[in-house]
Amino acid sequence: MNENTADHSSLGIEAPEEITRRRFFEKLSITLASFCAAVVGVPLIGFIIAPLFRKPPAKWVTLGKVNEFQIGKTVSVTVIDSSSLPWAGVTAKSAIWLRRESETSFIAFSANCTHLGCPVRWLEGAELFICPCHGGVYYYDGSVAAGPPPLPLFRYNVRVENGEVKMNPVVVPITTTS
Ligand code: FES
Repeated sequence: MNENTADHSSLGIEAPEEITRRRFFEKLSITLASFCAAVVGVPLIGFIIAPLFRKPPAKWVTLGKVNEFQIGKTVSVTVIDSSSLPWAGVTAKSAIWLRRESETSFIAFSANCTHLGCPVRWLEGAELFICPCHGGVYYYDGSVAAGPPPLPLFRYNVRVENGEVKMNPVVVPITTTS
């Protein structure tokens, strides 16, 4: 034991080389812990927030063959959500109203009223959509004819491809007015 060590021990102070070693291990521990946190945390955070920045790919669902629909007629079509889970059952199904305007032109309306979302009915003879909840009425083109609906019926994008009518089933925006 040399003189310096004896002096430091008696005063409760560690030798300079012991302090250096302790600091070194402290810094090494902090560095390793930070590295491990980054290895685990960065992919995890990326996994959580990535969907916020990813634009969902446009999906087109087939509504039927073009010649299954008559010009000037509006019919209900059942749409099955292609992104639903296998056990979704009937909840994967929804209905839209499809109107054939001409040889190649179709309009797909959301079946939900723009007031509070009740399903609207098509009255063939009157050529009107009627909402049973609060008496909302829409013309054949989805524009508001009477009642509380603040907006026309929502229209989906429709296209004709290879003799089939296809629709892009986006989420229908919710109206905030009452
Ligand atoms: S929900 Fe259709 S008029 Fe109110």
